[in-house]
Amino acid sequence: MYNQYLEVAKEAARAAGAIQLAGLRRQLRIETKSSPIDLVTEVDRMCEAEIARLLNQNFPSHQLLAEEGTVGGDAPDFRWIVDPLDGTTNYTHRYPFFSVSIALEHKGRLVVGVVYDAVHDEMFEAVAGGGAFLNGQPIKVSDTPTLSQSLVCTGFPGDQAGNQQVLTAWEKISLRCHGVRRDGSAALDLCYVACGRLDGFWERLNPWDMAAGWVLVSEAGGRISNFQEDPFDLYKREIVATNASIGPELVAVLKETLQV
Ligand code: IPD
Ligand code: CA
Ligand code: CA
Repeated sequence: MYNQYLEVAKEAARAAGAIQLAGLRRQLRIETKSSPIDLVTEVDRMCEAEIARLLNQNFPSHQLLAEEGTVGGDAPDFRWIVDPLDGTTNYTHRYPFFSVSIALEHKGRLVVGVVYDAVHDEMFEAVAGGGAFLNGQPIKVSDTPTLSQSLVCTGFPGDQAGNQQVLTAWEKISLRCHGVRRDGSAALDLCYVACGRLDGFWERLNPWDMAAGWVLVSEAGGRISNFQEDPFDLYKREIVATNASIGPELVAVLKETLQV
């Protein structure tokens, strides 16, 4: 039912990925947004413009919620949620871990998720009820049974209090598992949970960082909640995504560490 939307999302993600790869070969203009470490480049804006152009060409009435502020139509039922370049800090340093994230919300429910890693030519895709795929092959979350055998990942919100809470959780969790990573593209981090490369992930994020990844993890058999183990809400800035088995143990540590 949602396949026509999936195909356009993949086309837009590939187009943005090509812009990202081309941008790596030239000098970048880097600006800051809300703080000295909140970066944006002309490539973020070029990717968003191209994605918006393709979505608008195919679905002119659909709404658009995109990180760099491009807006779409006003159809009440369809909203695309787009992060044109997730991992801008990595990108500006030419550290090869960044992605494009495109999701579709239909009547308030996330139904399509696409995350594209152009460097590794990895296309993660999922449609509600249809399973999750990496380059056309089905994927599922890991079967790691306990936190002590797991590899997990997180990110830092950028403000001092929030960063300190993540460091406290990092210390506690890293002493109880194989390792904690900070990879720098939340959308891709969630896809790594979906395909079993990571066993869990947590962070405070914006909707465009999480929307597509949520579809991937859900369709790959993972478990997603907020830090208090309440149901996930895309518009509240908390996500814990796991392979389900390590979920209760990871959430127990986060509950005592991460206060709102
Ligand atoms: C960022 C990345 C990063 C996460 C930050 C996000 P951006 O997105 O997803 O991994 O830790 O919280 O803001 O700014 O590169 O699109
Ligand atoms: Ca992002
Ligand atoms: Ca971004």
